[in-house]
Amino acid sequence: MEVSLAGKVALVTGVGPNIGSGVALALARYGAKVACNDVSDDAIKACIARIERNGGEAMAAPGDVTDEAAVQGYVNDVLARWGRIDILVNNAALLGGRGVLDESAADFERAVRVSALGNFLNTKHVGRAMAERGIKGSIVCISSSNGWSGTPGVVAYAFHKGGVNNFVRAAAMDLAPYGIRVNSFTPTAPNPDNPELLADMARRGLGPGGILVHGRGGGLGGPTGDEPWRRPTRWGGQRNPMVPMGTTGTPTDIGHAVAWLCSDYARLITGTDLVVDGGARAKNFAYTPAAADDLAGPLPLINLDDTPASPG
Ligand SMILES: NC(=O)c1ccc[n+]([C@@H]2O[C@H](COP(=O)([O-])OP(=O)(O)OC[C@H]3O[C@@H](n4cnc5c(N)ncnc54)[C@H](O)[C@@H]3O)[C@@H](O)[C@H]2O)c1
Repeated sequence: MEVSLAGKVALVTGVGPNIGSGVALALARYGAKVACNDVSDDAIKACIARIERNGGEAMAAPGDVTDEAAVQGYVNDVLARWGRIDILVNNAALLGGRGVLDESAADFERAVRVSALGNFLNTKHVGRAMAERGIKGSIVCISSSNGWSGTPGVVAYAFHKGGVNNFVRAAAMDLAPYGIRVNSFTPTAPNPDNPELLADMARRGLGPGGILVHGRGGGLGGPTGDEPWRRPTRWGGQRNPMVPMGTTGTPTDIGHAVAWLCSDYARLITGTDLVVDGGARAKNFAYTPAAADDLAGPLPLINLDDTPASPG
């Protein structure tokens, strides 16, 4: 019994080098042809090259996910080239931001717009393309742990990821009569593992722990002011181990899970959320996991990228 997406066509939005590229590569490695969307042509080119050097087939689907004409345009391009779309992964989003005392109306609005219209317009037009052709497809909306619990410093992100979670349940109800499934996947600060991204991070002096440990100055959350009335938003001392299994995993772990969720084995899974986080979300607030050195750790990662590691 092998999970296979052979014969299926996927569209992934926001194929930047971290999670979007990891999911797109995984769908290709499991056999799907993958259309790669982004507002960045460089991101699209890099993702297509990564898929092709790993033996997959990909095409560009450039455009802004908030622009309905652009969405219709690239959906039509994919249909013209490959005749169908079986899988949609709504991944594009604006990360970061600030807390409720500091966020600007313009940045709040843009972040919510990219998430809200990106998920809605792509689900609408790909959903119609599936329904018209009788394709019992799978739509996956990428959420975040910030959609399920609170973190200081990311108020717009928390707002729109919470919205993604209930959008999924509503869209799942709209599309259930057509046999089309809609689910979310919740990444939890995965450690980047795209060799090109790791090399770029090394050049910029960021460690392999990447985004969680070094990339954003000690964790999620935007800067605050320094007025005398300010209170710290988080514990400033030494960080305890936080993840029961010692790691939240990588975009490759996400890719394996999303590929399975888009496979025919998951035919009745709709309106739900899948999370691969080493137990992070399930953890009770009052419990501190054992020190990393005392954990057995997970099974080894099943790699999907044959790109040799760069000396970076
Ligand atoms: N990185 C994390 O730690 C983390 C954790 C939880 C959830 N997520 C979610 O995973 C997804 C991918 O995260 P990432 O770390 O790879 O982010 P990223 O910023 O590296 O990639 C996002 C991509 O979306 C593209 N994009 C932005 N606006 C767009 C638009 N209007 N139209 C088309 N493309 C657009 C960007 O150009 C970029 O390439 C996002 O939905 C994010 O919220 C990430």
